[in-house]
Amino acid sequence: MYATPDRTLSGIQPTGTPHLGNYFGAIEQHIALQDQYPGECFYFIADYHALTTVHDGDTLRANVREVARTYLALGLDPQRATLFRQSDVPEVTELTWFLASVTGMGLLERAHAYKDKIARGMKPNVGLFLYPVLMAADILAYRPSLVPVGKDQMQHVEMTQDMATYFNQAFAGGEPVLRRPEGQLSSTPVVPGLDGQKMSKSYGNTISMFDSGKALRKRVGKIVTDSTPLGEPLKTEGCHVLGLLGLFKTNAELDEIKTNYRTATRNGQPFGYGHAKQLLAEAIETRFDAARQRHAHFTAHPDELDAILARGAERARGLARQTLQDCKKACGLR
Ligand code: AMP
Ligand code: TRP
Repeated sequence: MYATPDRTLSGIQPTGTPHLGNYFGAIEQHIALQDQYPGECFYFIADYHALTTVHDGDTLRANVREVARTYLALGLDPQRATLFRQSDVPEVTELTWFLASVTGMGLLERAHAYKDKIARGMKPNVGLFLYPVLMAADILAYRPSLVPVGKDQMQHVEMTQDMATYFNQAFAGGEPVLRRPEGQLSSTPVVPGLDGQKMSKSYGNTISMFDSGKALRKRVGKIVTDSTPLGEPLKTEGCHVLGLLGLFKTNAELDEIKTNYRTATRNGQPFGYGHAKQLLAEAIETRFDAARQRHAHFTAHPDELDAILARGAERARGLARQTLQDCKKACGLR
């Protein structure tokens, strides 16, 4: 009765401008999945979730558009994948209440993300505490089989599985009205930022996919290295420039660059960190050249972006409505 095709779904918080860490850690895999699940990939911009931390309407609006532009620029194909705004499907908040009604406080009190925020001195609002329930609702509403996420979100996916079971047991005699999804960990290790820590907006150490020319070279120039003078061998071990180059180069190209490090020469010329950074800036510029142009296109044509989000919302909402109808029937609200 609830047969659903294999389907993948994930959400992205609109909390700032996406960077190389987001690309290699999440966006690249999300987009690749559209070949594997054509027509059954759903990605949404989690603006309800962002309300727990972003309290400025203009900022939120701008962030939502930037995330949408970023996905489209990087190759999300609206024919094969559905991109939408979480808040365009208000059924999700209704499902949140159904799930909250069958979920114990203890489960939420064990959430790492919540505990970390409290430990860092954040005064929690109820929304922050309920965050995993909202997340479960915005997964279960679409009945996906697979939820690709970063490591930090895996516990939330496990809680989602629990909540699906609680609901099905409480209201449907164990019938799978809500489908238990599987989490899928992204395979990319942590992308280092300018200072070698995890690249993150909150550390101010990010590199954008869409910078080019002087601005990009200036940013890449800020990557921290040791102070080996030009002409002396460079250490390959622990070099953040090399770490980032590894995301763009083949193994053979990387081996050649490592040789350049050890010999301090490349093509018979002296080779130092400045040259390595130049290689990285060129690699970023080349890799994202087409994406940068599409990004500029969507910045100049916001109407196209709106149309894609509106079509996405309609498609996603159709699925959520069906789920809600089944849930209401099960709970006795129909
Ligand atoms: P965030 O903006 O931190 O919520 O991250 C959005 C997505 O990008 C999540 O799936 C993260 O796991 C991933 N991500 C963020 N920063 C990095 C990074 N430096 N390296 C790898 N993945 C990252
Ligand atoms: N909580 C996720 C994050 O911070 C974003 C998110 C919201 C999400 N709802 C989701 C991810 C549903 C996957 C599935 O990254």
